[in-house]
Amino acid sequence: MTDNSKLYIALSATTAAVGVASVLAYFFRRGYCKHKAGPINHIIRKDEKKVTDVVDVEDLLSMIKPGGKISFCRCWKSQDWPYCDGVHKEHNKCTGDNVGALNIVRKKTSTD
Ligand code: FES
Repeated sequence: MTDNSKLYIALSATTAAVGVASVLAYFFRRGYCKHKAGPINHIIRKDEKKVTDVVDVEDLLSMIKPGGKISFCRCWKSQDWPYCDGVHKEHNKCTGDNVGALNIVRKKTSTD
């Protein structure tokens, strides 16, 4: 066996090993991902034809302290919906998505 043949065999084996490891890593990660493709809303008010809400801005102001913020979920995965509980990070990691919360801030004013 020539040196070139040995090198070819070694490179082929290494390439095959890296390929198999990559495929296994992909399926291992996907297999444990609980965020699958399909409808985005799995749990929230499923008895309604369409989930729509109206919020009065004055009510929002009363919910946020001056200098504070409130974060609303836009991934539909939060266990504290309509508020963000941070689970969108896991959803994004599993699905390759890029969703995140709607953060509403209330600035402090001179009267606060
Ligand atoms: S948990 Fe849904 S946006 Fe953060």
